[in-house]
Amino acid sequence: MSKQQDALGVAVIGCGRIGSLRANLSSTHPSVGFLALSDRSQKQADVLAQRTGADLVTTDNLAAITDERVGAVFISTPEHDHREAVVQALEAGKAVFVEKPIALTVEDADVIIEAAERTGSELRIGYSRRHDRRWMLAKEQILQGRVGEVLGIQSRVYNTRAQLMEILKRAPDATPVNDVLTYYVDMACWFLEGIRPVEVVARSQSKVFKAMGHKAADVTWAIITFENGAVVNLGVSYVLPATYPTVGQSSRFEIIGDEGVILLDADNKDSLLFTDRGAPHSYVPDHNINMMFMQTTSAADFAVGDYWGAVASETRSWLDHLITGRPSPHTTPREARRTLAVTLAIEEAARTGASVALPD
Ligand SMILES: NC(=O)c1ccc[n+]([C@@H]2O[C@H](COP(=O)([O-])OP(=O)(O)OC[C@H]3O[C@@H](n4cnc5c(N)ncnc54)[C@H](O)[C@@H]3O)[C@@H](O)[C@H]2O)c1
Repeated sequence: MSKQQDALGVAVIGCGRIGSLRANLSSTHPSVGFLALSDRSQKQADVLAQRTGADLVTTDNLAAITDERVGAVFISTPEHDHREAVVQALEAGKAVFVEKPIALTVEDADVIIEAAERTGSELRIGYSRRHDRRWMLAKEQILQGRVGEVLGIQSRVYNTRAQLMEILKRAPDATPVNDVLTYYVDMACWFLEGIRPVEVVARSQSKVFKAMGHKAADVTWAIITFENGAVVNLGVSYVLPATYPTVGQSSRFEIIGDEGVILLDADNKDSLLFTDRGAPHSYVPDHNINMMFMQTTSAADFAVGDYWGAVASETRSWLDHLITGRPSPHTTPREARRTLAVTLAIEEAARTGASVALPD
């Protein structure tokens, strides 16, 4: 692994699905010369170390974070377990990239933001949907003024119940709203940058997951009103049958402006594989599937010797940003905090039936 002397050193904390992507992408990045891995499971860290040729492998997060050869840290632990390692890394003066959502509670998010602001260390949050080319281009068209003023957005995202079960294995308090709709809240707020969301109404239906003993709703629809009157309708359902052929998020995202419209069809039904031989599911390890909407993997896919997709672009561009200092479109702590507040308000509104005002 070791390359030139002045190369960037990277630590990856949490060596599961997404940490593996971050580590693999870092290990092949031309500016990265040192890779440290830490996972609470020695086996998990060892397996990834073998694949990436990591220089340091440990179960002690702090040892990896504070190693003097490390300049940047990816925190890829489960949703409820970001706070400790993020604060450690910020306090050690490292540039930090933490997976979405920043935390599952406002209290954890505020501790993280306080540490970022006190230390001045860089912190970005992994809202990788921004880095899918479709949404990046939508942002550019909005920046160029081609849709005029954004009046409203409608988006919905679907996935299978089998994938929700995988998410719940690592994070029992995760829900389709705080774990998935969060990406779409992030993008809606990004497209309405500078305009504050002020009110949330939402309804949900809970039958299938409730019968299985989970608090996740089967279907949630929300309307978020922004301070200029823009209305954003976001929905999520992870209750599709377990073998429905999406292997990630199937979504639509539609932006209505006073001078134009952007329609993103990201169901990926036009990207179909059918195979009698069966193919591994990228998220549900025990699924061997005959039919697949390719490109629905929302993180990244391995193909022809490398990784392709949103998380690949997102990881490379953050590392590029650290090396070159050029601005990056990755989600900031304040943006992630606002997105968390909106998702919590959606769950409260769905639970109580009342509209929820969002504080300044
Ligand atoms: N951007 C994306 O496309 C995307 C996709 C899926 C998940 N995620 C996010 O990535 C994060 C991780 O999800 P995942 O699917 O990789 O989970 P995972 O369960 O596959 O991996 C988590 C790993 O962290 C380890 N771990 C748990 N607690 C730890 C701790 N305190 N210290 C060190 N290691 C610890 C576990 O042993 C496991 O190896 C979550 O925040 C999730 O929301 C992002």
